[in-house]
Amino acid sequence: MRAPFRITGVGAALAPDTLTNAQLEGRMETTDEWIRERTGIRERRTGGTTAGLGLDALRSAMGERVSAADLDAIVVATSTPDEVIPATATSIAVEVGVDGAAFDLNAACSGFVAALVAATPFAAPGRSVAVIGSDVMTSITDPGDRGTAILFGDGAGALVLLGDPATDGGLIGFDAGNRPGTHDLLHCPRGGTISMQGQAVFRLAVRAAADSALRALEDAGVTAEGVDLFVPHQANQRITDALAARLGIGADRVVSTIATLGNSSAATIPHALATAAADGRLPDGSIVLLSGFGAGMSWATAVLRWRWA
Ligand code: UT7
Repeated sequence: MRAPFRITGVGAALAPDTLTNAQLEGRMETTDEWIRERTGIRERRTGGTTAGLGLDALRSAMGERVSAADLDAIVVATSTPDEVIPATATSIAVEVGVDGAAFDLNAACSGFVAALVAATPFAAPGRSVAVIGSDVMTSITDPGDRGTAILFGDGAGALVLLGDPATDGGLIGFDAGNRPGTHDLLHCPRGGTISMQGQAVFRLAVRAAADSALRALEDAGVTAEGVDLFVPHQANQRITDALAARLGIGADRVVSTIATLGNSSAATIPHALATAAADGRLPDGSIVLLSGFGAGMSWATAVLRWRWA
């Protein structure tokens, strides 16, 4: 057991607009068929701000059960903050009325899992912590670049954790790392747009995330057969399928939201968790494998035993 906590709530925010493959056909040399076959994406959600989407996701996760006074920390995973400073988390804290710790963490598409791990010390017994993934990837994507504009979208998701030393739930294993020398595969200069060597990122992501998942499962003392729900970062349906196949996890145990949401970086995993919870796919006691990977090339994997508060 790395950190004992229960989950009080999980929530998500949809960006306001929908961008379909057909609309992209009018902007660049591509086809709906190519995008669906190579990525699994039919449309993506776009628009909004990182703080606004993060706030909506947090409010949805807090519901009626968590009040601002319960929250000791807000941690936001993002690589697309609306402002350089102050941290997005402070903008959200003002709106919610939280005066505890509030900070952002950037680990690109690995960010949500890294933030979840980093947030756990704040979940003192009986105290709550919000972990949010929020990204407006369209703000750093060249809308005419067919290598990236077909993939990226905007959105947010959030979890509220309740520290509980008496539970067997919480973070039961994790693994994180990066591959030095891969900076140029996927990067975005300040004020610029993303450039990505898609094929190289694809190959490295599958290998690195699968190896990391095995290490995290070993850390948790769980086998891949014991995983009830696999929630990978939603980068490309083919990456999700390749990862699940490498781990021997059948499609019935994998969450996929990419067809209608696209890749919203740090937001994909918490958004997928909110979708799974709404679909009744997170019963109490579930073993959940979260797999983040992306620019850096970085990866972060967590194994949770999901106990509802
Ligand atoms: O979240 C952060 C991590 N990011 C990722 O994990 C993304 C990983 N990479 C990918 O998802 C995929 O590499 C892409 C979706 C970006 C590209 O798919 P691919 O299967 O790797 O395509 P490719 O780059 O190997 O290109 C195959 C062909 C090429 O044509 P030729 O040379 O075979 O004639 C490309 O020019 O497809 C062409 N192509 C396209 N055609 C239509 C590339 N992009 C497009 C496009 N529409 N959008």
